[in-house]
Amino acid sequence: MHPGLWREIWILIFIAIGSLLIGLATDRFFVAAAVGFGFYISVQLRHLHSLHRWLHNRAEAEIPDAEGLWGDVFTEIRKLMKQGAQRQEELSNMVARFQNAAAALPDAVVILTEQDDIEWANRNAARWLGIHYPRDAGMRLGNLLRDPGFSRYVAIGDFTEPLELPSPANTENTVSIQIIPFGARQKLVLGRDITHLQRLEQMRRTFVANVSHELRTPITVLSGFIETLSGLPGIQLEDLRRYLATMQEQSARMQRLVDDLLTISKLETAPPRRREDTVDVPALLAGLREQAEILSGQAHHQISLDAAAGLKLLGSREELLSAFSNLVNNAVRYTPAGGEIRLRWWAEGNRACFSVKDTGEGIAPEHIPHLTERFYRVDTARSRASGGTGLGLSIVKHVLARHDAQLQIESELGHGSVFTCIFPAARVVREPAAATG
Ligand SMILES: Nc1ncnc2c1ncn2[C@@H]1O[C@H](COP(=O)(O)OP(=O)(O)OP(=O)(O)O)[C@@H](O)[C@H]1O
Ligand SMILES: [Mg+2]
Repeated sequence: MHPGLWREIWILIFIAIGSLLIGLATDRFFVAAAVGFGFYISVQLRHLHSLHRWLHNRAEAEIPDAEGLWGDVFTEIRKLMKQGAQRQEELSNMVARFQNAAAALPDAVVILTEQDDIEWANRNAARWLGIHYPRDAGMRLGNLLRDPGFSRYVAIGDFTEPLELPSPANTENTVSIQIIPFGARQKLVLGRDITHLQRLEQMRRTFVANVSHELRTPITVLSGFIETLSGLPGIQLEDLRRYLATMQEQSARMQRLVDDLLTISKLETAPPRRREDTVDVPALLAGLREQAEILSGQAHHQISLDAAAGLKLLGSREELLSAFSNLVNNAVRYTPAGGEIRLRWWAEGNRACFSVKDTGEGIAPEHIPHLTERFYRVDTARSRASGGTGLGLSIVKHVLARHDAQLQIESELGHGSVFTCIFPAARVVREPAAATG
């Protein structure tokens, strides 16, 4: 038995014996017993009262002073209260930690009650779903997300697949919403921005459509000729030569397209170079100029080169050659016979610039921002007739990006164009003998 209880029993026995002795001596046993037990009961009541008072306002009050059983009761209660407070603190810390983690998620998170009212939402819920917590707490979710598709999604109640809809906070963005039931009929709503993914998907579709379209013409021509040739019993050598020349032209076109696609894919997937070459740009341009003369052929363009001697670049020779030759080839192809083409390579402050200036047909301003898009051509039929795939400037853009450089396009319809590549100081190397040449 508990020692405190023994103590109480002994006190009761002591009061009983005391009352008996006083009763025998004074002949007033009941009075003595009433006084003794009354005193005992009043002490118990006092302790009970202080227990009640303490429990009532325990935050302020000190633990009551008591001995024996009451003392133990007070100590035990205090221990239990301490444990309870500790557990509560742990719980609220845990809740705060979860809330902080959910608040930091890049996705929108909304917790709904059983009645689909908003109970809690993180910061990104405002960004992607237009739900502001605590302002919108207690509101019905359907009143805030007023998209018919969303109402249908909730009404059907099949949440295995996410729903995609324009972001209520910004209609230019698309969000993917998923509802996850949990607990006792509560729901978690997750919203994720998928604008970027959708754009990529759109780009992929356009790209596949473009490539297929580009390949279809040469393949149709080739198979048409093959069919014609195999169906002809006797054919003139002259005709055969003509057919074969067209077939060769079309297969060269396919070859160019595939080569350009491979170049772009290589540029896109290649890791950044670890070691850069020091590219002798003036020498590279001298070679390019000769090639331009050959390409110009009967068109007799006046091609000039003005390159700062000793001004070199850190980068990939192969990639720079591919970019620069695309610009020079464009100038030759889009400038009428006898026109002027000027190649320049010079230092501007700490930077270095390469420009190709022509007196060709020029480009209308609305086309300029799109020129570096894959397959973009101002005059599709004409560019295609001259063997263009519309990938040249896209390759230029990639190469320049890999060299931290920028492409500047200035053009005036009917007067000509200037394409300028601007390289940052960090890429420029000047040999000691540098002089303007
Ligand atoms: N110097 C220029 N003068 C006028 N138009 C140009 C010039 N350079 C490019 N363009 C226009 O920009 C379009 C895109 O050029 P880009 O080099 O990307 O493709 P392309 O020359 O048609 O084909 P590719 O270079 O792949 O053979 C061209 O079709 C042409 O309409
Ligand atoms: Mg081109």
